[in-house]
Amino acid sequence: MKKTKRDFLRLTDFTAGEVDALLKRSLALKKRWKKGLRDNSLAGKCIGLIFDKASTRTRVSFEVAMRQLGGSSIYLDPGTTQIKRGESIADSARVLSRYLDGVVLRTFDHAIVEEWSRWASVPIINGLTDLLHPCQIFCDLLTIVEKKKTYRGLKLAYVGDGNNVANSWVEAASMLDFSLALACPKWYEPDAHILKEAGEKVKGRLMISQDPVEAVRGADIVYTDVWASMGQEEEREERLKTFQGYRVDAKLMQKAGENALVMHCLPAHAGEEISAEVLEGPQSIVFDQAENRLHGQKGILEFLLRTYQPQRAQRTKR
Ligand code: CP
Ligand code: NVA
Repeated sequence: MKKTKRDFLRLTDFTAGEVDALLKRSLALKKRWKKGLRDNSLAGKCIGLIFDKASTRTRVSFEVAMRQLGGSSIYLDPGTTQIKRGESIADSARVLSRYLDGVVLRTFDHAIVEEWSRWASVPIINGLTDLLHPCQIFCDLLTIVEKKKTYRGLKLAYVGDGNNVANSWVEAASMLDFSLALACPKWYEPDAHILKEAGEKVKGRLMISQDPVEAVRGADIVYTDVWASMGQEEEREERLKTFQGYRVDAKLMQKAGENALVMHCLPAHAGEEISAEVLEGPQSIVFDQAENRLHGQKGILEFLLRTYQPQRAQRTKR
C-alpha cells in the first residue's frame, strides 16, 4: 500500500526542520488566538480519539484544538466500540479511515500505534504509549522557546524515571541542538533501544547518571515526571522507595542554573517526584506548559491533516 499520509508516533517522524517550522506556526497560532483572531484551517475535518488510559490534558487539548481551528472530534470510548470486543486493528483502522481525518491514540504497547499506522490511511497521532509521549515533548519545546527564546544550546536536566517522557526527550535531543542530562536510578534508565538509536547523534550532548545533583548542575530547565506511570500501579510502593533521592526540591534547585525553570508534564504527585514548594514556586512553569499542549497540537494537527492525501479523496478524484 503506497503511503501518502504522515503519522506522529515519535519525535523522529518529523525532521528537525519540520519541528522548527511547526514550533513557529504553533506560536503564531497561539498569538492569533490570544488576539481574538479566529482560524478555520481545519474546517470540515474530524478526528477520533481512542484512549486506553486516562487523560485530562491530552484529550481535552486535542478536542479543543480541533474546535478552535474550525474542525471537530469524536471521543471513542474503547469500551463501547467493537475494538474492545476484539475487532482487529487492521479492520478498525481501515473503517475509521473512511470517516475520520486522523486518529489520536493513547495506549500501552507502542506496537499497537504502529499497527494502527500500518493500516490507517489517515494520520495516526501517538497520544502516549508505554514507550513514548511525543506530543508532550513537542509542546514542551514550544514552552521552552517561549520562555527562553530558543532551545538551542540549553541544558535540560531530567530527574526521575526513564519512562515514556524521558524516552521522548532522548529522541528530541537526537534531533535538536540542546544538551540532555538524565539522572535515573539504576535499572530505571531510558529505553536501551532508543538510547542506541540516538547513539552518535547525541554524542557530547547526552549524559546519563544516577546523580540528580550532577544532572541539574547549571541546567536551564529541570524536568521531572511521576515515579510510577500509568500501568505501573503495582510497582508503586517499590518505586517510592527506589526513587527517594530523586525528588526535585528546593535543595536540588539550588544546584541548577540561576534562571532555571521547572517543568513537569503533569499530573504531579507533590511530595513525591517534586516538592509542593517547587511545584508552586516561582521557577515552576507547569501550567503554561499544560496550556501549550493546546497550541502546539494545533500546529501538529494542521500539518498532518492538511498535507496527507486521504484515500477517499483520491478515489473520488476524476
Ligand atoms: N501530560 C499529559 O499527557 O496529561 P494527561 O495524562 O492528562 O493527558
Ligand atoms: N509517564 C506518565 C506520563 C503521564 C502524562 C505516564 O505514562 O503515566
